[in-house]
Amino acid sequence: MTIKTEDARLGMFVHGVAGGWIASPFWRRHFVLTKPSELAKLREAGIAEIEIDLSKGIGPAAAPAPLVPIDLDDIAEDIALPDPEPPQQSPRRRRGPASAEQRAQAVVDASKVVVKAMFDEVRLGKAMNVNALTPVADQIVESVTRDAVAMLNVTRLKTKDEYTYVHSIAVAALLIHFAQTMKLPEEEVSALGLAGLLHDIGKMAVPKALLDKPGKLEPPEMAVLRHHPEKGHALLSAGPPLPEVVLDVCLHHHERYDGRGYPKGLTGDQLSLAARMSSICDVYDAITSQRPYKRPWSPSEALSRMRSWSGHFDTELLDRFIESIGIHPVGGLVRLQSSRLAMVIVGNDRDPTQPCVRVFYDIPAQRFIAPHDLIATIAVDPIHRAECGQRWFGERWETLAAEILEGRLSPAESFMPSSSTPKGVLS
Ligand SMILES: [Fe+2]
Repeated sequence: MTIKTEDARLGMFVHGVAGGWIASPFWRRHFVLTKPSELAKLREAGIAEIEIDLSKGIGPAAAPAPLVPIDLDDIAEDIALPDPEPPQQSPRRRRGPASAEQRAQAVVDASKVVVKAMFDEVRLGKAMNVNALTPVADQIVESVTRDAVAMLNVTRLKTKDEYTYVHSIAVAALLIHFAQTMKLPEEEVSALGLAGLLHDIGKMAVPKALLDKPGKLEPPEMAVLRHHPEKGHALLSAGPPLPEVVLDVCLHHHERYDGRGYPKGLTGDQLSLAARMSSICDVYDAITSQRPYKRPWSPSEALSRMRSWSGHFDTELLDRFIESIGIHPVGGLVRLQSSRLAMVIVGNDRDPTQPCVRVFYDIPAQRFIAPHDLIATIAVDPIHRAECGQRWFGERWETLAAEILEGRLSPAESFMPSSSTPKGVLS
């Protein structure tokens, strides 16, 4: 595929440049663009077009929405955005009428109707028919069990009008998938699905004008919005009996591990497993959702940032969540199928499970190798599993990781005395 050089972006595999390699500022003929300096070099060389290989790297971006800076309050409360345009759906794969993505979309569409009707009734002060949601939760369980990746992808697309409903369905799907990979009992998985669907029901008790307000909320408005967990809990407590976990998640999904969340400021040891899981799923969906006028973070970028927020989440649980969705954060250490260690350096919007990685260590040979970048596709060298940097390299890992990520791994690292063999080699 040929694109204009100005449209080039990190993660693309450059197969050729206009004018041939005589015009190229690079000594390599084919390579992955991984550094901003490489992009700049390409543009400064006056090359009009480049040829990229979509099987080995990411493609051109859809027209990007302006980037709105996101802060933690925005994330937690999902501030409403200006008037929507239809979201840019990723092109449907033409694989017949029953592709995984189409099946997942059908489940989301059907769930949306029921969830919206119920939420609208609550806003009008009518009694809640929570029983209608049980089959919806069961259908999402079935869909996640069958097409987890498709389901998690489809629920990332949201218009402003449907944001709260689809966010609820997305959190349900994430919680179900998380619970299944943690091998929780079936009835707990279903109950967590219902908890995801109802976790933000308290927002129906918040004035719509405030929910729909574009831009940042003022502190008094934020204070009103922050009552939604308690309002939701009161609404649910007044209705027919529900599993305890549904009430727990509704009340505690904005609590933080370090006690700086709300409404009660509980700390990690006071929060149930379900509450800690829901806070991870809630934030992950909020920051990766594709919405008009708000550019989402890619899944790997989002996970990388969530990992960097100290005190927000149960970090062990966050690592299990990352493992459960099979997406590796930028900066994360991974083992490739070829038994080499690599670091994720650029996410891949087209397929977040196949990011661009920098390979730097040969496990069987127990030695560093000249760092080089590749897209970890099934055809090239897929990711086998996540690894723990400290376990392999001990206290050196932090410095080493920065050197690898910034592309300045010292040549001296290419030789490692046997006395300092990485710990992971022995495992
Ligand atoms: Fe919430």
